[in-house]
Amino acid sequence: MALYDRPTMRDRPSFTARWVASQRAHLERPDDVHGNADAERRLYEGLAGWLGIARLDRARMRRRTEWFDAATVDALASGVKQVVIVGAGYDGRALRFKGDGVRWIEVDHPATQADKRSRVDDLDVPTSHIAYAPVDLSHEDLDGALARAGHEPAEATLLIAEGLLGYLRHETIDRLFAVLRRRSTGDSILAANFRVLEHSRWIGDRVGRAVLDGILNVVGESRKSTFYEGVAERLLGDAGWTVIRHLVSDHDRFDATHGLFVLARPSAP
Ligand SMILES: C[S@@+](CC[C@H](N)C(=O)[O-])C[C@H]1O[C@@H](n2cnc3c(N)ncnc32)[C@H](O)[C@@H]1O
Repeated sequence: MALYDRPTMRDRPSFTARWVASQRAHLERPDDVHGNADAERRLYEGLAGWLGIARLDRARMRRRTEWFDAATVDALASGVKQVVIVGAGYDGRALRFKGDGVRWIEVDHPATQADKRSRVDDLDVPTSHIAYAPVDLSHEDLDGALARAGHEPAEATLLIAEGLLGYLRHETIDRLFAVLRRRSTGDSILAANFRVLEHSRWIGDRVGRAVLDGILNVVGESRKSTFYEGVAERLLGDAGWTVIRHLVSDHDRFDATHGLFVLARPSAP
């Protein structure tokens, strides 16, 4: 049984979510006239603590944030009024990019979401545009949770899955992509990222991967799936999504991986 599956781990907020969000506090980013970037920054600063010491490669975090910020800015500019962030963690985009009449739905594991909600409540800013869908994606019903949170499948949606998919098994990702597809109009858009394993050239690559996986095991958030070249596109395609734009970046020599960022639209029926 993976560590993340242990009942004790289900009861505590995500360490990786906190770590990633705290690093966004240091980035220059776009904002929105209706939003409150300062509230988002205060949310992240409250998460920092000693985690600030252990920064991800800054350039990598910047590129990742830029990809998902651009997807958000573009979707809102094109008139999308509904955003679903799956595995939202402490993502503060609903505060920063609020938009005019945009409804935001955040999906995450109940333990992380409860902690995030109380931190957002403490900011003392308007939050009626944000709805929460507490779900353990590995065995709970995402479709029902989105419906209860007010997601409207007849309206275009921006769907965000940032830094999430490696923590889910392939069969869970299949189900997730299929549910999101069923709840999407033709002009909805899915933004997601994957850590892709390159062909391992020597034992050092495997050691590098084992070290990073070991760290995740220690914090109780073990990786549940690996993506080799072409796997992400296949998972998306099988669930009815067509990649319309992608970016390959951050080739990492330590563990022979790279980042894959995609934007996908529902495939034509
Ligand atoms: C690395 S964090 C990324 C958080 C956020 N997307 C961001 O980029 O700041 C991974 C997130 O996935 C969530 N997650 C992992 N497994 C999950 C599951 N089975 N069900 C729901 N959420 C899950 C964690 O709670 C955590 O918030």
